Amino acid sequence: MAESMQGLHRTHRCTELSVKNIGETVTVMGWVQKSRNKGGIIFVDLRDRSGILQLIFEEADCGAEHFSKAERLRSEFVIAVVGKVTARSGAVNQNLETGEIEVRVSEFRILSEAQTPPFPIESDSKTKEEMRLRYRFLDLRRPDIQRKLMLRSQVATKVRAVLAEEGFLEIETPILIKSTPEGARDYLVPSRVHQGKFYALPQSPQLFKQLLMCSGYDRYFQIAKCFRDEDLRADRQPEFTQIDMEMSFVDVDDVIAVNERLLQKVFRDAIGFEISLPLPRMTWQEAMDRYGSDKPDTRFGMELVNVSEIVKDCGFGVFTNALANGGSVRGINAKGQGQMPRKKIDALVEFAKGFGAKGLAYAAIQPDGSIKSSFEKFMSSEQMKALLDAMGAEPKDLLLFAADKNKVVWDVLGNLRLEIAKNVGLIPENQFHFLWVTEFPLLEWSEEQERFVAMHHPFTMPMEEDLDKLGTNPGEVRAKAYDIVLNGTELGGGSVRIFQADVQEKMFEVLGFTKEQAKERFGFLLEAFQYGVPPHAGLAYGFDRMMMLMTGADSIREVIAFPKVKDASDMMTNAPDVVDKVQLEELGIEISIEEEN
Ligand code: AMO
Ligand code: AMP
Repeated sequence: MAESMQGLHRTHRCTELSVKNIGETVTVMGWVQKSRNKGGIIFVDLRDRSGILQLIFEEADCGAEHFSKAERLRSEFVIAVVGKVTARSGAVNQNLETGEIEVRVSEFRILSEAQTPPFPIESDSKTKEEMRLRYRFLDLRRPDIQRKLMLRSQVATKVRAVLAEEGFLEIETPILIKSTPEGARDYLVPSRVHQGKFYALPQSPQLFKQLLMCSGYDRYFQIAKCFRDEDLRADRQPEFTQIDMEMSFVDVDDVIAVNERLLQKVFRDAIGFEISLPLPRMTWQEAMDRYGSDKPDTRFGMELVNVSEIVKDCGFGVFTNALANGGSVRGINAKGQGQMPRKKIDALVEFAKGFGAKGLAYAAIQPDGSIKSSFEKFMSSEQMKALLDAMGAEPKDLLLFAADKNKVVWDVLGNLRLEIAKNVGLIPENQFHFLWVTEFPLLEWSEEQERFVAMHHPFTMPMEEDLDKLGTNPGEVRAKAYDIVLNGTELGGGSVRIFQADVQEKMFEVLGFTKEQAKERFGFLLEAFQYGVPPHAGLAYGFDRMMMLMTGADSIREVIAFPKVKDASDMMTNAPDVVDKVQLEELGIEISIEEEN
């Protein structure tokens, strides 16, 4: 039977006690981590979110009744304890924050008993993630997850403090909004009052934060829930959190400056990492050319080399055809991997095919300088020498080449570079390499939709230098858009916004919206632009991603209290789920899908 805690007040968390408290009578409460009965003495490790404290139960201190009650203690029982802090009677436990002390219990209560949990509550659990997520309420007791969520809270608090100092106002924007899909799919919410109509959940507060700028709020931020119905990956959730901001009367450099100060203060406060400013910057073009990625991991080299010029007249059809089709031939040098077994090279070729490569050409330089290569026979010795020079090849190096359209070559080599680096251990741990990637293309051609789509979003300002190309050569227009990249992950992104109604209308036109469609979807924004709008710009971080990188977690699920799994379901509550007929009737909704067998 559970006892009441009436009359008891917790005086300390477990690890708030230290040798300074020796002699004091304290009240602590928490979960039994483990209990060891050594005959006349019972040792209990008490756990709360701060850590572990050793309790000692002896009949001499607590009396026979309490002692026999203590004999019933099992893992995960919740107890309240009154006792005296003393120096450890046994050896000091160096591994424990409270290893120099213990509490000798004089009185205690069992507040709640517990069944044996389905897995042990400890850090570094080997338990399958499925099981952990099914019992997330227990999983969340594990100290390593608790530390991550506590750090997350600390970071949120610091972000608020820094942005407040910088003159930002925290303003909430609505969750039930109008559907304006562009990018990911929207989550829809049916309206009861307006049957047949739907709200959408926001993919980001984008339009509202721009309206706030029109309304003169100047500097806005929000730690905002966002919803995107897209395929999940290790760094994506259908429901995630952004640190979102917008500023008026600013340009690219102003946004970057505020955010560099923010990152510096947050990383210093949270994990003691000192970021040196200014952070490096690279244009999108340079990032693609050097790393084959718009979010390059700059913790290691193995940069891409464009060898198109060198191989343009060679006899290798794979190369020359790619060039004739407007593509390129590029390579990477996997230093010291020249003796990679054929099987492993084949595996890399398969890996490359997963990213659209038709194949990979390779040249393995042997220790004696001779070359094993899939294409050497098509090259003159001068061409081969020029190629090796361009690649900085030395004995024992492995050169890998892809020939195709630029987009494919970048994607293939960019990913190959990461794969090889991971396989051979090139990526240094415990380092944070930040990078601003700037001057993104404004638009991207969508083969699927046969139209241009916005690379960032339709409100992003073209670079002034490229404005006149918007009508004639939209694919070449660069945008005032920037991403902040950390260790090869896109941590955040933003842009300077279009604030002129005519440019915005032109943009909608290029994106293939008729005037009516644009008005239908974004009329309220275009209207706001008629009444005096300041130049403005902003940025949003993926807060979950930030925490994942800061804590070194493998997945953003580790830094989200109640995450969803790959098919966007919640294993603990079983959401999404069917609903009552009555609920559907109220909404005027009929389900047309036949039940699966
Ligand atoms: P964007 O779409 O680039 O920009 O999103 C900003 C950042 O949010 C994070 N993010 C995600 N994190 C987890 N799960 C997801 N499914 C997910 N999708 C995005 C990323 C990303 O960099 N309104 C603009 C920002 C702006 O222009 O100010 C926006 O949402 O870390
Ligand atoms: P194939 O002509 O397809 O037999 O390919 C001849 C060699 O070129 C093989 O080693 C392929 O792996 C390689 N190869 C094929 N396509 C490409 C490509 N697009 N880029 C680089 N190498 C390729």
